[in-house]
Amino acid sequence: MYNLLKGKRGIITGALDQNSIAWKVAEKAHEEGAEFVLTNAPIAMRMGEINALAEKTGSQIVPADATNMEELENLFTQSQEILGGKIDFVLHSIGMSVNIRKKIPYTESNYDYFMKGIDVSAMSFHKMLAAAKKLDAISEGGSVVALTYMAAQRTYPFYTDMADIKAMLESIARSFGYHYGLEKKVRINTVSQSPTKTTAGTGIKGFGDFYDYADAIAPLGNADAESCADYCITLFSDLTRMVTMQNLFHDGGYSSTGVSDIVMQKMGLE
Ligand SMILES: NC(=O)c1ccc[n+]([C@@H]2O[C@H](COP(=O)([O-])OP(=O)(O)OC[C@H]3O[C@@H](n4cnc5c(N)ncnc54)[C@H](O)[C@@H]3O)[C@@H](O)[C@H]2O)c1
Repeated sequence: MYNLLKGKRGIITGALDQNSIAWKVAEKAHEEGAEFVLTNAPIAMRMGEINALAEKTGSQIVPADATNMEELENLFTQSQEILGGKIDFVLHSIGMSVNIRKKIPYTESNYDYFMKGIDVSAMSFHKMLAAAKKLDAISEGGSVVALTYMAAQRTYPFYTDMADIKAMLESIARSFGYHYGLEKKVRINTVSQSPTKTTAGTGIKGFGDFYDYADAIAPLGNADAESCADYCITLFSDLTRMVTMQNLFHDGGYSSTGVSDIVMQKMGLE
């Protein structure tokens, strides 16, 4: 451990179960000396697993539906009270597409579901940042990270409406990052993560095969949730204090590789 987050206060969204990327971030943030509040949608809380994480990391839980502005404002107000000061880091680890869940092809997307996906997975990021800014709840030099996927840049047919939604999420990081950076030196980045075996990840059609494909392309192989958490910790730390408005690939080199020897062999081309 490096004590990278010693004395820092945070808010971590999206820890549903032990596979969640946010779960690993919480464990690592705790190891690195941070104190934080855990939050999730009230409906996800009913599964109860988050209580074990709270106990393990000595954290309190403040439920908040990330689409609800009032609940988000309450989250920032309560978190500051619980932790005793402004917030130094926030993890947005929230994603959900009803079109994906219901296996609806992209070209036949249901627009109510599409809107829901935008609200939960992208607009929630804007709302979270707006709530924090209105309350002046994030400290100068604070760091906000949201998780995204490369379907925002290149087409992955099975990722359907989430591709467009992630493009919006990444754009919000740039747009809000400008304003919040100028006014309060708050930095905002997205981390574009490898396919990862979580509830959200494995809900995608053909995930298993695609996971293996990505693993065979990336020179380092797929990045797992734990290494993603490590990367998030560096972004919350002061060591990355001049990094903002970036979409940062955390994918074992996948995004820069056209084709790999392994895939060529599998195709019978070598
Ligand atoms: N798993 C992957 O392959 C992968 C790859 C790249 C990026 N990501 C992104 O990582 C993030 C975390 O997902 P994960 O893979 O850890 O899966 P996960 O299913 O463990 O986490 C998703 C979380 O979103 C929460 N959530 C849903 N609706 C909400 C709402 N209205 N308010 C508050 N929280 C809500 C869920 O309760 C859950 O905790 C998502 O943004 C996802 O798109 C995942």
